[in-house]
Amino acid sequence: MDRRTFLGLTAGGLAASAVSGSLRESLAWPSPHQFQPDFMPGTPGVPPEPYQFPKDFYWGAATASYQVEGAWREDGKGESIWDRFAHTTGKIKGAATGDVACDSYHLYQQDVALAKQLNLKSYRFSIAWPRIQPSGAGTANQKGLDYYKRMLDELHAANIRPLVTLYHWDLPQPLEDKGGWPNRETANYFVDYANIVVEALGDRINTWCIFNEPSVFTSDGYDSGAHAPGRKDWDACLKATHVVNLAQGMAFRAIKAAYPKAEVSSAFNTGDAVPATNSEADRAAAERWAAFHNYWFVDPPLKGHYPQELATDQVLAAMGVRDGDMEIVKAPLDYLGINYYNRAIVADSPDRRVVHAAAHEPEQGPKTEMGWEVWPGGFYHLLTTVNDRYKPKAMEITENGCSYGDIPEANGHVPDERRTNFFRGYLGAVARAHKSGVPIRGYAAWSLMDNFEWAEGFTQRFGFVFVDFRTLKRTVKDSGKWYAQLAATGKLS
Ligand code: GCO
Repeated sequence: MDRRTFLGLTAGGLAASAVSGSLRESLAWPSPHQFQPDFMPGTPGVPPEPYQFPKDFYWGAATASYQVEGAWREDGKGESIWDRFAHTTGKIKGAATGDVACDSYHLYQQDVALAKQLNLKSYRFSIAWPRIQPSGAGTANQKGLDYYKRMLDELHAANIRPLVTLYHWDLPQPLEDKGGWPNRETANYFVDYANIVVEALGDRINTWCIFNEPSVFTSDGYDSGAHAPGRKDWDACLKATHVVNLAQGMAFRAIKAAYPKAEVSSAFNTGDAVPATNSEADRAAAERWAAFHNYWFVDPPLKGHYPQELATDQVLAAMGVRDGDMEIVKAPLDYLGINYYNRAIVADSPDRRVVHAAAHEPEQGPKTEMGWEVWPGGFYHLLTTVNDRYKPKAMEITENGCSYGDIPEANGHVPDERRTNFFRGYLGAVARAHKSGVPIRGYAAWSLMDNFEWAEGFTQRFGFVFVDFRTLKRTVKDSGKWYAQLAATGKLS
């Protein structure tokens, strides 16, 4: 299970989302003494220590194609697995789809202007594969490439660094029909697509992110079925993880062959794994959970093997690993992209497949409307743990954020104090990690604006900018104004 599905299965997660309306309750954060022994500045209720980030720190925000673009069949775009999934009854809350979403395909200039207004130095967005290759193979769709050219030019004109994700979950449906990510051939198709993008847009992009959260899209797409393409097949999921690792290594080399100075990585989902008890069994279970959820796509490129806690010969065989594959997956990533949202309490659970661990959402801190706990100390712990494991040259936080449903008041303001508090806390953790030597050079908040939140539809708002999904009007929230100040000065207080 991953950070999404395990939430759905725990009473805590469900109860927390049920109170989503109660603003006051979640504003009343527990007092700091309740947070021992993990107490640290940046824990809810405790202001972060003031910190001056370096001048060249990349203050950013992130979005993804299917979540914001809309225009789902315009200018030659093909159908993606998310189009298909969202158009299938019963998959998405409120029968929502990304057909229009924030309509960024047409309103991208407004979005870049908003990023500028927020003083962003970096904007992370993704390219929709089916806009570039409608059937997932063959010649490029020029109109799709042109859209991203315009977008990149707009960003450069605004002096904002583009951080471009090649794959944020919208696989062309025809490739799923051929077997999807469990099919080894998909890695070859992916590299063809990467080569097209590199050739057409590589002169405008220096920082690349190959995959977004490979562990989440393989697990949710092929095991739990909560996300597109909605399959529930553990063997297929295991195979998909290996094909994605192959594709990651191959795409890394394709980009570097054309642009040796390009900076290439992926955005890896991570959670801070906390053993449920101090028993040896639970501590080992937490290690195994982290091996599968945090490191399954990072050890192979950086160490040349799968995490040894789990990768028995039997598992490797089930994944379809062949002789010579581990040379293909190896890639000296230029920076580590870290997506972080929450902690997981992990217990030994021998009956669970392969990982033999069960995770649930902690109950110590307050919850966001996704039901995810607010606990900045976990972020600090995760960052230092990852740094110790890989000693990367550089790290970027490619996502971190929270869902709160605050809406505009009559005067047009969107007071969303809980979001500002969340970011102060989590950036306090980033500051503390940075101060202790973790080479973090940028932070992309999720998200620039409210958008289509996958199976949750439009029920969860993560943005610095409020989007009225009927009129598509954008309004900067108070948290966005706060972040704009921080991005301008680099001074957290
Ligand atoms: C993910 C993504 C984003 C989400 C965000 C909030 O992790 O699923 O990268 O697309 O919208 O994480 O859930």
